[in-house]
Amino acid sequence: MQERKKVTIETLRAMKRQGEKATFITAYDYPLAKYAERAGIDMILVGDSLGMTVLGHKTTLPVTMDDMIRASQAVTRGAKAPFIIGDMPFMSYQPSDRDAVINAGRFISEANCDAVKLEGGRRVAERVKAIAGAGIVVMGHLGLTPQALAQMGGYRVQGKSLAQYRQLLDDALALEDAGAHMLLLEAIPNEVAALIHDQLQIPVYGIGAGSGVDGQLVIIHDLIGMFDEFKPKFVKRYAEVGQIITEAIAAYCREVKEGVFPGPEHYYPIPPEQLTEIMAYVTGKDKDKDSREQGA
Ligand code: KIV
Repeated sequence: MQERKKVTIETLRAMKRQGEKATFITAYDYPLAKYAERAGIDMILVGDSLGMTVLGHKTTLPVTMDDMIRASQAVTRGAKAPFIIGDMPFMSYQPSDRDAVINAGRFISEANCDAVKLEGGRRVAERVKAIAGAGIVVMGHLGLTPQALAQMGGYRVQGKSLAQYRQLLDDALALEDAGAHMLLLEAIPNEVAALIHDQLQIPVYGIGAGSGVDGQLVIIHDLIGMFDEFKPKFVKRYAEVGQIITEAIAAYCREVKEGVFPGPEHYYPIPPEQLTEIMAYVTGKDKDKDSREQGA
């Protein structure tokens, strides 16, 4: 397989200039990262959505830095060429600039990520400035920001009123001014996301934000049908891997119960002379046992 050239922030800027859309998915482990790279993906987010898709939590809030670092390490081992972004989990950057820089740095030095992402607008602009000031590439995240779920009153589309549009634009400009290198918009109407995109210089990607942005993010478990707790409107399934896995395991269970698996083709072979020797030993033992029982 031909080795792909590494995608960098410069590559992403050039793609934006040339109007080439970036492909962007989440991944949380080595195999999915490897398959994503093979498929030619441009960018990977090691999202804190792993709390829901992989760890089975109801929200992303319980996810820790250690969860994220372990997952990011697996992803960067699996995919080399894509641009890989580590998602800063709840309370890894909110308390202080110092926490934000130290934890962002862990994604780079311990997990080999290319960038970090954090949620929020003007209120995290100082954090963005501090992280970017440490030489780290930063992606902002606006719109539906799951770490602020309680404040938003649930998973709700954002930017559906003039007040919300103005707030989003103000936040987006504040992030760009603070040094964010990229922005992600989540769950925003197509037209509103496009308006925000058009007023920024940095690449702007979307998840559930329509087509007027520089690239599309999807959650890998949504794309391949491995998360069935809910399905947002913007999700398109390209495969039903969850169903395939269920059917495969059910077939295995059936075959074990029926004695079909394992069949002779799954046995480890043994050279006949070794088997004969073992059988002679076992039979001889049986004879000794028989004679002992007769003598008793
Ligand atoms: O954690 C994640 O996957 C995300 C996306 C939903 C944007 O932050």
